[in-house]
Amino acid sequence: MPGPALSCTTNDGSRPVVGQTGGVSTPAPSRHFASDNYAGVHPEVLQAVAAANVGHVPAYGDDPWTERLQEVVRAQLGDTAVAYPVLNGTGANVVALQAMLPRWGAVVCTEAAHVHTDENGAPERVGGLKLLTVPAADGRLTPELVARQAWGFGDVHRAQPGVVSITQATELGTVYTPEAVRALCDQAHELGMRVHLDGARLANAAAHLGLPLRALTTDCGVDVLSLGGTKNGLLLGEAVVVLDPAAVTGVEYLRKADMQLASKLRFVSAQLVALYEGDLWLRSAQRANAAAARLRAGIDALGVLEVTQPTEANAVFVRLPGHVAAALRRRWRFYDWDVTDGTVRLMCAFDTTDEDVDDLLVALATALREEPDAG
Ligand SMILES: Cc1ncc(COP(=O)(O)O)c(C=O)c1O
Repeated sequence: MPGPALSCTTNDGSRPVVGQTGGVSTPAPSRHFASDNYAGVHPEVLQAVAAANVGHVPAYGDDPWTERLQEVVRAQLGDTAVAYPVLNGTGANVVALQAMLPRWGAVVCTEAAHVHTDENGAPERVGGLKLLTVPAADGRLTPELVARQAWGFGDVHRAQPGVVSITQATELGTVYTPEAVRALCDQAHELGMRVHLDGARLANAAAHLGLPLRALTTDCGVDVLSLGGTKNGLLLGEAVVVLDPAAVTGVEYLRKADMQLASKLRFVSAQLVALYEGDLWLRSAQRANAAAARLRAGIDALGVLEVTQPTEANAVFVRLPGHVAAALRRRWRFYDWDVTDGTVRLMCAFDTTDEDVDDLLVALATALREEPDAG
């Protein structure tokens, strides 16, 4: 299935020409496997931004698109859901966790959690929160793992565990079942803790399970959600979505203090409405997942490479010999995941085509047949 065109018409109806956009020398269109946020913007999202570009409206969220977004999140996530659009996923996580915890609070999460590994310490530096991590081989917390850090309540010497933060789909491309999320929420609530879900790729998890978004969040007892957007075709934008209002204080003040309140918020909200109003979130996530499944099947068929994680969302984790990774890197970008054992992450996006995947698989097969350079 071909991907959607990654261009849009300009105001005068013409198409921007590669190499001549605003004096910027743009590269020929190509699709990498580094991250789903290497992808461009879904054309339907760009259209929504253009449609919101009418006249003056009040700034900072007092606009019709932000109002419509509230209806959209209620339809997707239940009657209590309230959305606070923000600029990026790190910001969503920091605002959410800060709103859920007192100054002395701590967050239980995995060692691989984005909040721990990839936010430059923002929850600690900006949020002033302590992260209590546990190793989780496939990226998924379990009640047993949570119990390793959820202790010391009332002990003034210990940062107080107040939130369990899980990522869905996980940083390792795995997906929690609703039962698994429910078990974590039940445990947390029994301990007087709350549950935050980093849903940068919630759509991919829901697409994998064939379930609505609320079946993985609200219906399981998740209290606050960082709802993804950018990785699934937005130009820029995510949202803190409060599912239980009793779980937070001062989200709107923290969003501003954390520099996550866009003045022209209508353009962030309009994108989120475009993504979640209908089934764009699902169509896009299904395509990314399908591309990863195709890639995984092709790698398995080669019969010689070790895939280190189940492929449940849109990422494939595979160990590559050094000369093979180097050969692929002549054409594509992708991330090293573990430099000590050669594991790389190959991530697909909403616009990754079958052809993109097959090109990579051909190059992979070719590189595997070649001898490593003696030098
Ligand atoms: C699991 C997860 N959470 C959150 C984010 C958001 O990050 P950013 O601040 O780059 O939008 C990412 C992006 O890589 C992610 O993978």
